[in-house]
Amino acid sequence: MSDEKHPFLHDLSKHRGSPSTVIVIFGASGDLTARKLIPALFNLSLDSLLPNDFYLFGFGRKTMSKEEFSELTVTSILEHSRRPLNQEVWARIQQNIFFETGDYDDLQAFKALHNKIQTIENNLGRNIQILFYVSTPPSVFKPILENLGKSGLASKHRGSPLASKIIVEKPFGRDLSSAKELNRIISKEFTEDQIYRIDHYLGKETVQDLLVLRFANSIFEPIWNLKYVEYVEITVAEDMGVAGRAGYYDQSGALRDMIQNHMMQLLSLVAMEPPISTKSEDIRDEKVKLLKAIQPLNLKLQGGDVVRGQYTEGLIHGDKVVGFREEKGINPHSWTETYVALCLNINNWRWNGVPFYMRSGKRMARRVSEIAVHFRPAPGSLFKESNKFDLAQNTLVIQIQPDEGTTLLLNSKVPGLETIIQPVKMHFRYATTFGSNTPEAYERLILDAIIGDSTLFIRGDETEVSWNLYSPILESWQSAKDHGIETYTAGSWGPVAADLLLAERKHAWRKPGF
Ligand code: BG6
Repeated sequence: MSDEKHPFLHDLSKHRGSPSTVIVIFGASGDLTARKLIPALFNLSLDSLLPNDFYLFGFGRKTMSKEEFSELTVTSILEHSRRPLNQEVWARIQQNIFFETGDYDDLQAFKALHNKIQTIENNLGRNIQILFYVSTPPSVFKPILENLGKSGLASKHRGSPLASKIIVEKPFGRDLSSAKELNRIISKEFTEDQIYRIDHYLGKETVQDLLVLRFANSIFEPIWNLKYVEYVEITVAEDMGVAGRAGYYDQSGALRDMIQNHMMQLLSLVAMEPPISTKSEDIRDEKVKLLKAIQPLNLKLQGGDVVRGQYTEGLIHGDKVVGFREEKGINPHSWTETYVALCLNINNWRWNGVPFYMRSGKRMARRVSEIAVHFRPAPGSLFKESNKFDLAQNTLVIQIQPDEGTTLLLNSKVPGLETIIQPVKMHFRYATTFGSNTPEAYERLILDAIIGDSTLFIRGDETEVSWNLYSPILESWQSAKDHGIETYTAGSWGPVAADLLLAERKHAWRKPGF
């Protein structure tokens, strides 16, 4: 069994010999590069997981020298790395850091980049793989791709294991037609196995553990279906606001920013059928099948499946914060949603009739992401008379972040002569069991792309199926901008209408947290 084909069975010693690689970051002076990409590369280098021959090119419109870019990488490690800077380790990488200034539509700049990579290969005396990391606004995807094609960079070493690869950051399109167009443009220059559409939620430890929890434990599979599960909640709540990204966020909103991508990944892994193997294509096939089984959403205002909201001023952890429309850089008349709650129905043998509720919002009471699987009540009334309390519903809570772990809510007898039943919790916490310094999502994902493992990346058809579900919602919001948008106070758990969404179905949101 080849390790390359069975990525979930990572054996890191094998990756220590990964192929000589050049990473070219488009958008190298941007926020993501500083906050995530450079710290991820540093942490990989600390664990000796970068290839022995590793080169980093920043590419951007800003005029910057090799030394200035190199200095920026140090600042970014100092400010954002989970582990402190080790100067000796990073100095070895810094020898091979370069910056190429150029406009994304300037073919000459791409040719110059090609020549420099060619020189590296000549000096090394062997071929090297190129990994392009596109971390720019979507408006420049097209010229970048065209110039990668025209300069010969995209097709370099095609047909060999060292063929160029491309990582594309979200947003992957704004709706179904733009996602299709993007897929079309990329696939003109790269084949599907060269394309890595990133969703950093898939790189989170707890998200990967979902597959292990479901399929490496025999107790869950028999009860993971409509017979035993009454409903499922998926919450990704953030306490922060637009955090300096007003321009992007006002054009995006919560549905595009979180629901269509991160939340759908969580949903797919929780609800998909067991894949026949851990091979990338087998897992991705199951995810697509699941997404296709989701029913179109009912967009009616009363009794529909979707609620959207926008935060107004309030208190976050006791501090006063402004409302969305008062945020710097946000249109004071904006109708952009900062919160979405949905009820999804999956029409297949496993889940038909089991509601999957999802909600995500900015400026909510606190930062927490969790999946809660609520099991049906115990049948019969054995304890009804002796019990003064309602029996709690068994619930499995998978806490994605922070304080990662899993909790099972059970009923237990309170010790004593009287029969009193009380809910109790069985906890497993990553930090207690494994220590708290787990790799960041981007470390795992960049390493996977270097070694050519696409399991934790999104396939082209997956993006389109997901947009197919959500484009009608965006269209309806577009045609009636204020139609049914609710408000919620910053620091709350979202609009009242989101509570009604569940109440109409005789359910209620859990208060997140263990
Ligand atoms: C990003 C969104 O993709 O994910 C942000 O654009 C959001 O708006 C972020 O804050 C959340 O990621 P995490 O890892 O902090 O949950």
